[in-house]
Amino acid sequence: MTSTVITHIGELVTNDPDRATTDDLLGIVADAAVVLDGTSVAWVGPAHEAPEADTYVDAGGRAVVPGFVDSHSHLVFAGDRAPEFAARMAGTPYAAGGIRTTVAATRAATDEELTARVAALVAEMRRQGTTTVEIKSGYGLTVHDEARSLAIARQFTEETTYLGAHVVPEGSDPDEYVDLVTGPMLEACAPHARWVDVFCERGAFDEDQAREVLAAGAARGLRGRLHANQLGPGPGVQLAAELGLVAVDHCTYLDDADVTALADSGTVATLLPGVEFSTRQPYPDARRLLDAGVSVAIASDCNPGSSYTSSMPLCIALAVREMRMTPAEATYAATAGGAAALDRDDVGRLTLGSRADLVVLEAPSHVHLAYRPGVPLVAGTWVSGLPQAS
Ligand code: NIG
Ligand code: FE
Repeated sequence: MTSTVITHIGELVTNDPDRATTDDLLGIVADAAVVLDGTSVAWVGPAHEAPEADTYVDAGGRAVVPGFVDSHSHLVFAGDRAPEFAARMAGTPYAAGGIRTTVAATRAATDEELTARVAALVAEMRRQGTTTVEIKSGYGLTVHDEARSLAIARQFTEETTYLGAHVVPEGSDPDEYVDLVTGPMLEACAPHARWVDVFCERGAFDEDQAREVLAAGAARGLRGRLHANQLGPGPGVQLAAELGLVAVDHCTYLDDADVTALADSGTVATLLPGVEFSTRQPYPDARRLLDAGVSVAIASDCNPGSSYTSSMPLCIALAVREMRMTPAEATYAATAGGAAALDRDDVGRLTLGSRADLVVLEAPSHVHLAYRPGVPLVAGTWVSGLPQAS
């Protein structure tokens, strides 16, 4: 096992709760160094105190942040929906039914085509600093196509989510489809999944159906998460809080009872600013959630319909500008927040023993992630102690 010291770091974001103060959420160390030993972080502190290591890397005063944890994506699909996006920008509203277009293309694709697409998107994410990604199924909607979607996703991440309950496929009876999702489809998918998810929304699945799918998933050892309150107010957020789910995602339309339920339950609210950007919906107010004591994550929701971006830096910039987060809060939400949304404490931070996943920024501080939107600021991404090819 070889050790590496990355030194001359102008600003190191650790997300270490022991270093954080009321003025510094991110536990920043200035003029810092970090030592990576094998796949883990072995030492963090001021550069002049750094121990010797086998290899020496000079960060040249650049900022280093924990690798981004993108806790919500749908990367297993074929085709794209650029014409639908163009029509939307000309005034056609977003509707859940567009998912069926991608389902048809995905079913028609070979395993090799789907795998190559996921590989390309994961590589695109890496180049933008994402070091942990969650990937959902949900564009297969048959036993075979959901199971193969998850088997493909598993080649790229442990954080795989069974989303057979994305929409009711064309021509299916809703009750019969829920029976399939909670029966044979779940049996085929559970071995490849860690999580179970439901699109709980008008036009997709209602509260009772969501309860049924989550309960069936739990009985097969899958932990629950939800898509909720994306297209309008609804029961999903409070359902997630009631069930004590780790995370509920979208949270675009919230009333006061939803916010209170999130604060009381500790369920992470995952905000997906790429969706509001790409669907022209109003952005949710992260400030309201943070001020109420809700844990907030930011993720890309990368998918061909509502948010075809793989860029966590773009999501950070949008969250700051449009959701009233500070640059520090958005950076935290895209790293430690994403880790919390996946119930992980080994990623999303740079502390003793954490996974050596980090991003070197072509910038002196994390603030530049929002201050310089659209600029490729990722100078290098390290995953499990290894620099990634750019
Ligand atoms: O997270 N909300 C449901 N599913 C995706 C959108 C899928 C699509 O439009 O293809 C989402 O936004
Ligand atoms: Fe989604």
